[in-house]
Amino acid sequence: MPKKIVLALSVLAFVATSVTAIMSSADAAGDGKNLQVLSKDLTKKEIRALMKEVGKAVGKSCDECHDLEDFSKDGDMKKKAREMFKLTNSINSRLKKDGFKKRVKCVTCHAGDAVPKK
Ligand code: HEC
Ligand code: HEC
Repeated sequence: MPKKIVLALSVLAFVATSVTAIMSSADAAGDGKNLQVLSKDLTKKEIRALMKEVGKAVGKSCDECHDLEDFSKDGDMKKKAREMFKLTNSINSRLKKDGFKKRVKCVTCHAGDAVPKK
């Protein structure tokens, strides 16, 4: 293999390893200090499990919504997602109030896509 390609590959491998390392230390990075919609009673483990599910539902990886060095920081995509959490809660309170047992989740509309299909 040409040297340049080998170098590029090892850089990629390094980046991948660092990202994995950051993800597994996500507990250390985010302790739920900036939760504005989700319950503050969530444990770090519960936040992570929920985030994994949310990411899958809307086809986004952690870094598309977060600064991986500080998960509590807000960027535009994270703010948009927070509005979506509010929307989801409000639909669910309405369903509950009207006596329906059904609840919606991110996946109900997104079905794995960043923007729901029209
Ligand atoms: C679609 C956007 C989105 C994706 C993808 C996402 N998150 Fe989040 N995350 C949010 C939002 C929005 C909040 C804040 C919720 C609130 O305000 O109650 C949050 C909060 C958090 C927090 C709490 C931060 C703090 O200290 O306040 C952690 C930790 C976190 N996410 C980790 C992750 C991890 C790990 C992944 C990938 C598995 C991930 N998130 C994927 C949108 C996202
Ligand atoms: C009732 C349907 C519905 C539900 C439930 C829903 N969304 Fe959305 N979402 C949409 C629609 C429609 C759009 C595109 C229009 C817009 O941006 O408002 C969108 C857009 C988004 C975007 C912007 C995507 C981009 O790349 O620009 C994010 C992020 C997002 N939703 C996250 C979430 C999360 C996280 C949840 C669950 C907490 C959620 N959504 C629940 C309908 C929904």
